[in-house]
Amino acid sequence: MIKQLVNNFAKVFGNSENVETYFAPGRVNLIGEHTDYNGGNVFPCALTIGTYAIARKRDDNKVRLYSDNFEQLGIIEFSVNELTNLKEHDWANYPKGVIWAFGQNGFKIEQGFEVLFYGNIPNGAGLSSSASIELATSIVLKDLFNVDVDMISMVKMSKLAENEFIGVNSGIMDQFAIGMGKENCAVLLDTNTLKYTYAPVELGDASIIIANTNKRRGLADSKYNERRSECEAALAKLQEKLDINALGELTEEIFEENKNLIGDEIKIKRAKHAVYENQRTLKAVEALNNGDLATFGQLMNASHISLRDDYEVTGIELDTLVELAWKQEGVIGSRMTGAGFGGCTVSIVKNSEIDNFIKNVGDQYKEKIGYTADFYVVNVGDGARKLK
Ligand code: GLA
Repeated sequence: MIKQLVNNFAKVFGNSENVETYFAPGRVNLIGEHTDYNGGNVFPCALTIGTYAIARKRDDNKVRLYSDNFEQLGIIEFSVNELTNLKEHDWANYPKGVIWAFGQNGFKIEQGFEVLFYGNIPNGAGLSSSASIELATSIVLKDLFNVDVDMISMVKMSKLAENEFIGVNSGIMDQFAIGMGKENCAVLLDTNTLKYTYAPVELGDASIIIANTNKRRGLADSKYNERRSECEAALAKLQEKLDINALGELTEEIFEENKNLIGDEIKIKRAKHAVYENQRTLKAVEALNNGDLATFGQLMNASHISLRDDYEVTGIELDTLVELAWKQEGVIGSRMTGAGFGGCTVSIVKNSEIDNFIKNVGDQYKEKIGYTADFYVVNVGDGARKLK
């Protein structure tokens, strides 16, 4: 794979002298959805699929970027001094945003470089293709220009690019999981304090299966930012009485005692999801650490129901995949993952039932929705890194 990418680099940029190679994974969130901008806990893991980058410095100040996934757009070129979001630069606004974010943090990139990217995660499907290319760019910059910066700072700068340069008000989960991921472990991250611990993902005779609805959506045009403001409005009402900084600080009990302060049915439901999902995440991690996979699976299912009924970010495609999954033999748990509104589901399925699962859920999904879903049996891998 790397060899082929280096060959492609030579085709696109003339030769492949002095190139370095890098990889940043995609991520799947096992539980803790729409909690990361509410000061709650998340429990994602990095995957072994992701974004490859083949890169080298240039002698001038030009940045030249090419993606094997968007061949028709050719090389996208700009100078290190022209860092504005341009519609016609399409996917390249993500790496450009990271160069900008480095500059904002005192690491101004003065010299040009060229990169060939290739991603083997589906784009816009909820596996964080955008955070993956952001972290890939971060490690390219760090390595090519010897920037003295640690991974957590690169995670924050990648998030800054997403928030300020791309304009999606996302939390820190995706960039954190992709930067800090560890083989065979999920990360329990408290997004309020950024304290984190690793928990081994030991599934015994079961595996993680991701199913892509193939319903396309971009976060920028989804109701993501709307959910975020609904939660902020609910928090502001609760703060009139409670001394809290985030919904993630509330237990279910305290929320129930005070929820009427919010004064709006819809916003109460949104806040309820944030509070309960945060508590569910803690319970789920405890169950996994105790080897109690059955409880972990039930909490995944409850997470989906809450995202469907209270947070309302699922939609017919995600609900169909999950509800079909729940009926299959050997399914320990299944839920939507990521922002929702399309994208992917995550299921834990007994290895002996994987083929049946893919066939049955796939056939019935196609029958109901009219187009096919894609299935991936995934492995949990390490975070963003330079390759040898
Ligand atoms: C997207 C965002 C994350 C997080 C999830 C929902 O993936 O980028 O920050 O909010 O949605 O859990």
